[in-house]
Amino acid sequence: MMFTVAIDGPAAAGKGTISRAVAARFGFAHLDTGALYRAVGVKGGDPVAAARSLSPEDLARDDLRTLEAGQAASKVAVIPEVRQALLEFQREFARREGGAVLDGRDIGTVICPAAEVKLFVTASPEVRAHRRWLEVGGDAAQVLAEVKERDERDMNRADAPLKPAADAVVIDTSTLSVEAAVAAACAEVAARLR
Ligand code: CDP
Repeated sequence: MMFTVAIDGPAAAGKGTISRAVAARFGFAHLDTGALYRAVGVKGGDPVAAARSLSPEDLARDDLRTLEAGQAASKVAVIPEVRQALLEFQREFARREGGAVLDGRDIGTVICPAAEVKLFVTASPEVRAHRRWLEVGGDAAQVLAEVKERDERDMNRADAPLKPAADAVVIDTSTLSVEAAVAAACAEVAARLR
């Protein structure tokens, strides 16, 4: 069976948590596509060459979740050749046997426009920055500024900007518990599987 769940949304909206939970619940594979861009961003050198030669070791680095890696990712993510180099891997992952969940910015709009389920997970910038601060620590004001700067860049780039697909279901997690957000996402998947 092929079944794709596309989960997009701005920085630190809870996409990762929801994606992992949906994948575990339905036995689907999960791909965090942000990790691909983070790995390209931290690799250094020519970003296009880095994207074309990305290896499992690049994706296993332990510094991919830092604020610096997030910034580097959003800077290389504006380059069309970088996005192109990562496209086929993501599409193949999405169509693997047994179902797949992909989370990112352009999964429902560009990578998998025919995904069976499309979710757009969002929350207020303040709530998202607080969640990211719980994850990375440091100066809270700097974390908020970083989240806003990255959203701005992701929404305004020419190639594959962050926006909900026309047929995406929006889940605002500002006032939802993790359990409630996961339940809402699973309900959408279950409804489509029936
Ligand atoms: O975890 P968080 O939501 O903060 O970020 P991420 O999903 O790891 O993505 C890091 C950056 O990669 C984003 O700010 C985007 O610039 C870029 N990205 C993208 O352009 N397209 C994707 N499908 C996934 C990430």
